[in-house]
Amino acid sequence: MDAALTSQGKATPGYNLDRSAQDLTAQELKAPSRTDRNGPDMAACASPLDLVGNTPAVDVSVLSPNPGVRLVAKLESANPTGSVKDRIAKAMLEEAEADGTLTEGRRILEPSSGNTGISLALMARMKGYPITIVMPENVSDERRRMLEVFGADVVATPGAEGSNGAVRRARELALDRPDWVFLDQYSNDVNPRTHYETTGPEIWRDVGDVTHFVAGLGTSGTLMGVGTYLKERRPGVEVLAVEPPAGEMVDGLRSLDDGFIPPVYDKWGGVDLLDGKRIVRVEESITQTRRLASVGVFAGLSAGAALAGAMRVAERAERAVVVFVVADGGWKYLSSRAWTGDLAEVAARAAETIYF
Ligand SMILES: Cc1ncc(COP(=O)(O)O)c(C=O)c1O
Repeated sequence: MDAALTSQGKATPGYNLDRSAQDLTAQELKAPSRTDRNGPDMAACASPLDLVGNTPAVDVSVLSPNPGVRLVAKLESANPTGSVKDRIAKAMLEEAEADGTLTEGRRILEPSSGNTGISLALMARMKGYPITIVMPENVSDERRRMLEVFGADVVATPGAEGSNGAVRRARELALDRPDWVFLDQYSNDVNPRTHYETTGPEIWRDVGDVTHFVAGLGTSGTLMGVGTYLKERRPGVEVLAVEPPAGEMVDGLRSLDDGFIPPVYDKWGGVDLLDGKRIVRVEESITQTRRLASVGVFAGLSAGAALAGAMRVAERAERAVVVFVVADGGWKYLSSRAWTGDLAEVAARAAETIYF
């Protein structure tokens, strides 16, 4: 895996402008695979699916309160639908196709608090599968509209039940409709495995001496997969989850104290893999999301929560290299006015509406 990653190389020179198209070799004309994305041939990819993963990392140490601590953001917002979930959506679909579960005409079913639904809806549209997304009724307009763009059917569940209610309803539907293909990101081993096979190695390749990895916990796939990989490379790496306090909502994240433990969490070592969790309140997530914007990283609110977790490491460690995950971009949260509104008002709105 390492050799393949290394051979992709970092940005190497682009086109030689002295040569005409006729001079290009057959190799150079070949459509690049996803692993060529940073390679010499940044040409058109064969499909948007080839743009999934291999995301950039950017140093934001300017936000560090401690000169001995480097902060690096892993920009999952660079994926085609703007979130980390493109990785697992693509992998879960490909696995279901490969093992014969997902065949022409079968309907895909998934509960999603946002990003996974959008990723799956785009890919289902591209591949021609019908899709049903189960989600709480109190979602933002942007989210509804994005699912409309890709033609997904939506089943709404009571807002008060949050994402746990959507998971429960999807499970009932899956029992009623065995002909539907329930991908189930919370139980599907492909979720953490994809992060183990792609996100983790990319971080190791691009950042190197990582001492801490901080990410929000939703399904836990990112933390379990990347955490497992990084600890294999360097056992001393600390893996830290960011969670909202029980009963509070930071979009995309869940508190394990709210009553649902994702099966992939337990299966991948969960509490044994994690070195700790940092509880981050909504106001703090918003404040840190604003700080990210001030250095040019336009991110969703869970990225602010992850930065808040990284800041706590930076306040205590003498020297550290902290990688945190920017799970998605800020576009889909614009109606929350997270960047421009009064902090208390934005936080109050965020408690009522699921933006993402
Ligand atoms: C915005 C956002 N941040 C973070 C996460 C957490 O990622 P994971 O499900 O891999 O734990 C999610 C997952 O839904 C998300 O949508």
